[in-house]
Amino acid sequence: MAFPKTRLRRLRAGGTMRRMVRETRLSVDDLIAPLFIRPGQGARQPIASMPGQFQMSVDRATEACRELADLGVPAVLLFGIPERKDATGSEAFREQGVVQQAVRAIKTACPALLVITDVCLCEYTDHGHCGLIVERGGVRDVDNDSTLDVLARAAVSHARAGADIVAPSDMMDGRVRAIREALDAEGFAHTPILAYAAKFASAYYGPFRDAAESPPKFGDRKTYQMDAANAVEALREVALDIEEGADIVMVKPAVNYLDVLWRVKERFGLPTAAYHVSGEYAMIKAAAANAWLDERACVLETTLAIRRAGADMIVTYFAKDLAGWLDE
Ligand code: PBG
Ligand code: ZN
Repeated sequence: MAFPKTRLRRLRAGGTMRRMVRETRLSVDDLIAPLFIRPGQGARQPIASMPGQFQMSVDRATEACRELADLGVPAVLLFGIPERKDATGSEAFREQGVVQQAVRAIKTACPALLVITDVCLCEYTDHGHCGLIVERGGVRDVDNDSTLDVLARAAVSHARAGADIVAPSDMMDGRVRAIREALDAEGFAHTPILAYAAKFASAYYGPFRDAAESPPKFGDRKTYQMDAANAVEALREVALDIEEGADIVMVKPAVNYLDVLWRVKERFGLPTAAYHVSGEYAMIKAAAANAWLDERACVLETTLAIRRAGADMIVTYFAKDLAGWLDE
């Protein structure tokens, strides 16, 4: 009787056997937890489209950071919801801005926790775009070069507050160089840049824009964020950011762009991050709330898939849950 000579099932025979031959491992060390900082005191406002996530005032965010640090999560990524928004996003670089205050408080409470700050203008501008607006022949556009100065000022203000890493997410051309030069000039040559290098114009950012109160008031982000169809162009974006001084590169969103992530890690070999974004979080949460999916099993599988595709670190709203699960 014929039988298969190769029996791959031998090494799947039990939990211990599978554990031994596992190629990819998930660790709490890989996780970065995003946090939304709002003004005030004692505030912890639920975000409707992101169940389990909150806009928090500095004091509550600091508490959340203590818990994350106790769970072994190495890093947080801060977003700010400022008191006032204006045309030029001037709250983005104010010394007493929400993010700057949060950085100082968190670094004091949890010195070993890495504080990464998102550098962008969309949370700070009244029009909700990631850069400054100009009008050319009656058409409004996001101006590339004048935006660079504001981004650089924001990055320097974060570094001055004590940020360990700055993370530009705006997708203007040349922002990594502008930020690198400004940091170096101000005495922050040691501060690394995590560049949102291949950031696609994605419908999966929807819940984030509720959370950060930052949807664009006109038009969309497609003139600066990447077209979902383009993987080769993503490699150009990453190559440029590295040339300009990026220390870590990021692909975003994660799950629909695992091919891009794989190519980026293969091609450049730099420390590579992936952002499991708000819409990816919301989908799992919604299905789990209906008992259509097993939340924990899906989150572990999805996060592992992002690792397998090449991510060294993963920005995920599930960071705290994962830290608990991985510890069991
Ligand atoms: C701001 C920014 C966005 C996200 C991270 N930084 C939104 C956007 O570009 O519209 C998305 C994060 C998420 O969806 O979880 N530039
Ligand atoms: Zn933005």
